[in-house]
Amino acid sequence: MQNEFVLSKKSEFDELKKYIDSVKNSQGVTMQILQKAQGIFGYLPLEVQQFISDETNIPLADIYGVVTFYTQFSTEEKGKHKIGLCLGTACYVKGSQEIMDKLAEELNVKVGKTTEDKLFTLEATRCLGCCGLAPVMMIDDDVYGKMEPQKIKEILKKYK
Ligand code: FES
Repeated sequence: MQNEFVLSKKSEFDELKKYIDSVKNSQGVTMQILQKAQGIFGYLPLEVQQFISDETNIPLADIYGVVTFYTQFSTEEKGKHKIGLCLGTACYVKGSQEIMDKLAEELNVKVGKTTEDKLFTLEATRCLGCCGLAPVMMIDDDVYGKMEPQKIKEILKKYK
């Protein structure tokens, strides 16, 4: 399985192996290992899942099942910046769907996906806890309240 990805990430795989060796004799550590792996690689491509399977003797199908079941795990590489647009009730009634459509058009990407230049990942979120600012968008840790479609271009420029 020495493909290009594996060869280019040797130190990351070494770090993951060290971690797996330190916990693999304990029970029920699959989630911990996957969280650690995602922390190291940023996402969980098949090569990483296969590696974990080889190192732990957990069948690949089981690992794949966990990875695809929990939304905290991603099998796709994320963009440098994460855009989270709230589609909670308060934001939705104030027009967040229109903003989402505009973002998707502007970035030429579908919700849940990453732009071709790997700069942005566009995601829908649940209530962000600041409904008074609806509709709310977050880019990384920055909060943008009272969003309007015409503000999008200017805001995105800051992250390019
Ligand atoms: S519904 Fe969007 S912040 Fe609460």
